[in-house]
Amino acid sequence: MNNLGFKENFLWGGALAANQCEGAYLEGGKGLNNIDLCPSGKNRFNVMLGNLESFKPLEGEMYPSHEAIDFYHKFRGDIALFAEMGFKCLRISIAWARIFPNGYDEKPNEEGLKYYDEMFDEMLKHNIEPVVTICHFDIPVALIEKYGSWRSRELVKFYEKYTRTIFERYKNKVKYWMTFNEINMLLHLPFVGAGLVFKEGENKKQIMYQAAHHQLVASALATKAAHEIMPNAMVGCMLAAGVTYPYSCNPEDVQKAIDKDRENYFFIDIQSKGEYPGYAKRFFRENGIEIKSEEGDYKLLKENTVDFIGFSYYSSRCITTDPEILKTMTEGNVFETVKNPYLKASEWGWQIDPKGLRITSNTLYERYQKPLFIVENGLGAVDKIEEDGSIRDDYRINYLREHIKEMKEAVLDGVELLGYTPWGCIDLVSASTGEMKKRYGFIYVDKDNEGKGTLDRKKKKSFNWYKEVIASNGEKL
Ligand code: BG6
Repeated sequence: MNNLGFKENFLWGGALAANQCEGAYLEGGKGLNNIDLCPSGKNRFNVMLGNLESFKPLEGEMYPSHEAIDFYHKFRGDIALFAEMGFKCLRISIAWARIFPNGYDEKPNEEGLKYYDEMFDEMLKHNIEPVVTICHFDIPVALIEKYGSWRSRELVKFYEKYTRTIFERYKNKVKYWMTFNEINMLLHLPFVGAGLVFKEGENKKQIMYQAAHHQLVASALATKAAHEIMPNAMVGCMLAAGVTYPYSCNPEDVQKAIDKDRENYFFIDIQSKGEYPGYAKRFFRENGIEIKSEEGDYKLLKENTVDFIGFSYYSSRCITTDPEILKTMTEGNVFETVKNPYLKASEWGWQIDPKGLRITSNTLYERYQKPLFIVENGLGAVDKIEEDGSIRDDYRINYLREHIKEMKEAVLDGVELLGYTPWGCIDLVSASTGEMKKRYGFIYVDKDNEGKGTLDRKKKKSFNWYKEVIASNGEKL
C-alpha cells in the first residue's frame, strides 16, 4: 500500500458514452434517441438548446451519432486495446433506447440487453471493471414526442423501470453506476440534458427546474433500487464541474462566483445531501418558480443519497461583474466564463487549468465528504499523422500529466479518490460540436468531420505513455 499516493486499487481507465461512440443507431432493435436528432453544422446548437422541434432526422442534415466510430461492432477490438494499456475500469453508458426503444414499451428489447451483456463480459474477461452511466445525454425520442420528455412526471416511472431492468440484468457484472451524466447540463443544453423543446413564450426556467425535480426524484428512485437489488453497488451522481473563480477580490465578483457555482451544485447538493438547499428555495421564490412535487418526494430524496460524487473536469471558470471584462467571454463546455488572464486555452477556447482540478476536488470533497471519481478529463485537439504514420500528441500527454499531478496533490490533501477515467480514451464524436476532429483519444480513429474514413484504429504516442502511468500507479508521469 502506497500511503502517500494513489491507493493500490485506484481505478485507472477511460470514459466513453454510447451516443458518441456506438453508432448503429437503429440496429439491434434500438429506437431513436435525442442525440440522433442533433445534426452537425449550423443547426446543431439550436437543436441542442431546445429551439427546434423535429422527431425524426431531416433530409440534407448529417447526424454524427448515426455511425459515430462504430463501437457497436468494434467494441471487442477496442476493449482489447484498452486492456493493453492496463485499464482497471472502463466507463461506458447504456443507450436507453436500446433497452426500451420507445421508452414506454411493456417489455425490454432482448437484443439490446444482450449487447451490453456481451460488452460487460468482454470487459470482465480483461479484468476491466465496468463503470456505467445510466443516462448519458440519451432519451428515447418517443418519450419526447409523447410526453414532452422530462417536463412530464411520467418520465420518472419509465426511467425507474429502465433502471430496475438493467440492475436486475447486470447485477453480477456491474458495481459502479451513475444515474445521469452531467445532470447540471440540463440548464445549459436542455435538449441534450433532458430532451426539452420549448414553445415560444414559455417560461424556460420553470420548465427546466420542474424537469430537474423529475430527474432528481428519478435518480433517488434508481439509487434506492440499486441498493435493494445490489447491496454492494456504488451509485454516483455526475457533475460537469470546474470551480468558478471571481475575476477580482471585489466582493461583488466573489458573490457572483458563488452564485454561478451554486447553479451547478444545486443538483449535487440534493443528490448528495438529500434536500433542496436554502439558496435554491430563495431563487425559486424570487423568480416565481413553483416546483410541483408528489407526496413522498422529499422523504425519498432524503433517504436515497448517492455513494460517490462523479464529475468531469476540463477547465475552471471565471466570472466578473465588470461589464468591460464581461466582453471577454470565452468557450468552456457551454459554461459562462470570462477569459482568465493567467491561463492558456485549447484550440476550442477551453481554458487549461490543472491546478483547478486540485481546487475543484478539494471543494467538492469538503462540501460532500464522499469519495470522488474523476470520470472525465482531457484535451480536445487536432491530431496530425506524420509521414511515418505516427501521431505525436505530446500536447495531450502534457495536459494529462499536469492534471494527474494535481490529482495527486488532492489525494495528498486528503481527498478520497476512487479513480480517473480520461474522456474519449478512443477518439469519438464531440458532444458540443459534433466534430470528429476534436479528438481526445489515446487511440486514433480514421474518420473526418464529413464522415469519411476507414474507421481504422491507430495508437498515438499517448497510448504507451498512459500505459506506463497505469503500470506505475501514477508514479511515472
Ligand atoms: C462532457 C460530456 O460535457 O464533455 C461528454 O459528458 C463530452 O459527453 C465531453 O464529449 C467533452 O466535450 P466535447 O464537446 O469536446 O465533446
